[in-house]
Amino acid sequence: MLIAGYELTGSFISNAVFSLLSQPDQQIGPVQFRAGDQVLLDMDAAHSDPAHFTDGERLDLTRDSGMHLQFGHGIHYCIGAPLARVEGQIALESLVRRFPGLRLSVPASEISHSKNPFIRSLTALPVEFEAQRPEG
Ligand code: HEM
Repeated sequence: MLIAGYELTGSFISNAVFSLLSQPDQQIGPVQFRAGDQVLLDMDAAHSDPAHFTDGERLDLTRDSGMHLQFGHGIHYCIGAPLARVEGQIALESLVRRFPGLRLSVPASEISHSKNPFIRSLTALPVEFEAQRPEG
């Protein structure tokens, strides 16, 4: 519950901020595997499948996201999905409102991800913004 409730939501928010500030350019090619091989499903790859998503690697907030699998599917569908959505909405809206000039302070190509194969999280997200004068 701690990993699901903290690690995933934290990674989701930093990944979302990074995507908002840049454009992902990862390529996922076809892979062959044999019967009996163990396969770790990569939801990010599923969401880049051109058979189902147009330009799936590009952040497009107008895209119909009804088919996405980010919270799983079926009987084990994530019980924390509504909480994660609220946390993400509050975090992203607060960031955009409080730091209007927010931008990456390094080229997007310099941003790296952790080596954890289960959770896609950023190693760091350096940003810069203009200091705001206090109101009043
Ligand atoms: C952006 C954040 C999150 C993502 C991407 C995410 C993703 C997922 C996915 C893909 C599954 C399905 C795993 C499977 O099929 O075996 C899952 C299950 C689960 N998630 Fe999340 N999750 C997030 C946030 C949370 C939060 C905030 C909580 C709790 C507060 C939580 C608790 C759980 C639990 C307990 C399950 C297991 C459900 C079951 O097996 O019936 N998750 N999550």
